[in-house]
Amino acid sequence: MAANWNHFYQKSAEQRLALVAQWAHLTPSQLNDLQQTNAPIFDHLIENYLADYALPEGVVTHLTVNGTAYLVPMVIEEPSVIAAASNGSKLLSAGQGISATIKERLLGGEVVMKNVSNAALSALVARQQVTLIQLANASHPSILRHGGGAKRLTVRKLDDQFTAVDLLVDPGEAMGANLINTMLEAVAGWFRDRQYDVIMAILTNNADHSLVRVQGTVSFDRLGATLEAGRNVADRIADASTVAKIDPHRAVTNNKGIMNGVDAVVLAMGNDWRAVESAVHAFAASTGQYRGLSHWRVTQTGLTGDMTIPLPVGYVGGAAGVFQMVAVNHAIAHVTDVSELMKVIAAVGLAQNLAALKALVTDGIQKGHMSLQLKSLAMANGTKPAELGFIVGELRKLAQPDAEDVKQLLVQLRKQDFHE
Ligand code: MEV
Repeated sequence: MAANWNHFYQKSAEQRLALVAQWAHLTPSQLNDLQQTNAPIFDHLIENYLADYALPEGVVTHLTVNGTAYLVPMVIEEPSVIAAASNGSKLLSAGQGISATIKERLLGGEVVMKNVSNAALSALVARQQVTLIQLANASHPSILRHGGGAKRLTVRKLDDQFTAVDLLVDPGEAMGANLINTMLEAVAGWFRDRQYDVIMAILTNNADHSLVRVQGTVSFDRLGATLEAGRNVADRIADASTVAKIDPHRAVTNNKGIMNGVDAVVLAMGNDWRAVESAVHAFAASTGQYRGLSHWRVTQTGLTGDMTIPLPVGYVGGAAGVFQMVAVNHAIAHVTDVSELMKVIAAVGLAQNLAALKALVTDGIQKGHMSLQLKSLAMANGTKPAELGFIVGELRKLAQPDAEDVKQLLVQLRKQDFHE
């Protein structure tokens, strides 16, 4: 019989879990897993809530940004990301560490219209600029108290049929998605009242007005056992960076590595990582070709990295206000405002990239990751924490360890334990 999912969201948590368990033929233990992590508060956050899904959180060490040492929480399931970020941070930690600057921090959005005269619309928007800004601010007045607000409106022709009125807003300490959408809908209403054919009003995740730049240098002696070896590694990292500029295949992987660091901090800080991902990848393709975001070059003193990325994040609002762990993570990182948060996130991205490139041009990434990968393989196949030491030790002796090996080793170990 087909299940009836109508009004599922109105059912109690207990009823929902029971229905899902029945539908999916969950075992009592699987149902128990869901029940154990069901937190009634989140029933009010998302629709059809079942349970919390936990990810591991760790901290990146040795990160220095603009002369301040940071310990930054990262939430990530991939083994070795935090190890690599810490490694890259250490390499870049000399002197003031990574320098970071915010180029601009504004959020954009658009009111899209059909069949308008661009000249007339441009003239209207120019004439009514102050009125429209006041109207936008009046729709969300608290933003003025927080030092932000609507900044300017411009007209952008999309094609012969469609035109956008773009709005730029300073969202204060918030990411600002709700804020700008409210403002845009107010602005859209103003145009509709004047008989404009408004198609939609929505923020843009193309966050090219929210850019942060990070730069860092690592001396040759830190890159190799000798100055000469270090210089050689630096040359190869610079080559790898060039390859990411010319080859989109490599660029995507290079940037995935950067996002390993960026996303993990964005998530730990309660932010919308999909917004960050969309913005960063659009920015990487802004010349028409998808390119590596980082640029590494050899200078007289060492290897210097430079990266600019959009980071549409907030320090307050959204999930940041809902999850207690975000406040804890702000405290661990000692980050006190959104600008500092942007700088730290981008710095972790740069450090992550350096560690990946260094591994790739020297030993390859598998060697350094082996121990964590073996642990992951062991855990995924039923190894308990107390058994990890033995299982990983045995897996290390094998040329190409796989799931079957873990299972056999576990049988062997548990048999031994039973007989002892
Ligand atoms: C793995 O998650 C990330 C890397 O592939 C990044 C890179 O290749 O630059 C190691």
